[in-house]
Amino acid sequence: MTQIRKPITSDKQQILDFCTDTFSWGDYIHEVYDSWTKEGELVILEEDNVPIAMCHGVTYTDESMLWIEGIRVREDYRRKGFAELLVSHLERSAHDLGIIHANMLIESENVPSLNLAEKIGYQRKSQWNYFAVESKKTSFSSLFDSLHYDELAHSELRFVESWRWIPLTKSNFEKLNASEQILCIKDNKTIQSLGIITDSRSFDNTMILTILFGKSYGIQKFIQHVQRLALEKNYSKIRILTQQDEIPIVSIQKKFPFYLVEKKL
Ligand SMILES: CC(C)(COP(=O)(O)OP(=O)(O)OC[C@H]1O[C@@H](n2cnc3c(N)ncnc32)[C@H](O)[C@@H]1OP(=O)(O)O)[C@@H](O)C(=O)NCCC(=O)NCCS
Repeated sequence: MTQIRKPITSDKQQILDFCTDTFSWGDYIHEVYDSWTKEGELVILEEDNVPIAMCHGVTYTDESMLWIEGIRVREDYRRKGFAELLVSHLERSAHDLGIIHANMLIESENVPSLNLAEKIGYQRKSQWNYFAVESKKTSFSSLFDSLHYDELAHSELRFVESWRWIPLTKSNFEKLNASEQILCIKDNKTIQSLGIITDSRSFDNTMILTILFGKSYGIQKFIQHVQRLALEKNYSKIRILTQQDEIPIVSIQKKFPFYLVEKKL
């Protein structure tokens, strides 16, 4: 019998046992499993009393968004519609709460997931690149220009927090601005480059820089600022997410791009 339910203590090891070599680089579920059981809705699918699939959904009420992540189906149970069942379960719960859209992020090489998303009605909204850099001492000054929310012309800007692409609403902007997480460089009062720093709650030791847009000089200044900040705050990893194809640091390597996909609920 197939059942979708909340997690119970005995699930953890059985789930982690099949979430080890999911991707070429391994998997991250072991890092987040505990925090996901406390935050949002972690759903488990069991078949004949054995947990064989999971998925995590987080509802962002103010942004009216359901964020879906960590879909995992045990290899010997794939292609039976279980991922579809889990995602539609989360979508229904979110819809009942009045949430109007769902998002997830899919690596551009992950054909099964891209097909899954397309089959259940998700559309590609944007493409993002991911770069990894190290923390280090840098010489750039950390002075940035001040910015008010009303100066932002785009209405669909997003920033990355804990690997979730969150709409930059006025209230998110004010919080980030108050804690100096917004990096802005202006040119003749026009915003030339815009970046946002977050530190990952679920993933240990990671500082994330979202480059929303920018010119070479601004991006370089953002990266150097984050490198120094990460060193000061003892973060070992820095991840840069941007829709730009290239960034002006020679030493860093681009990883596979990701698609942000969306469905209206
Ligand atoms: C991606 C994954 C979650 C799909 O789980 P699943 O239970 O096998 O998916 P479903 O049976 O619900 O498939 C639904 C649709 O997805 C697509 N799909 C799923 N697996 C596929 C595959 N191997 N190749 C091509 N399309 C695939 C198909 O369109 C499928 O519909 P169809 O069977 O009618 O053709 C599973 O392969 C998995 O756990 N992969 C590793 C982890 C991962 O990539 N997670 C997603 C990260 S965003």
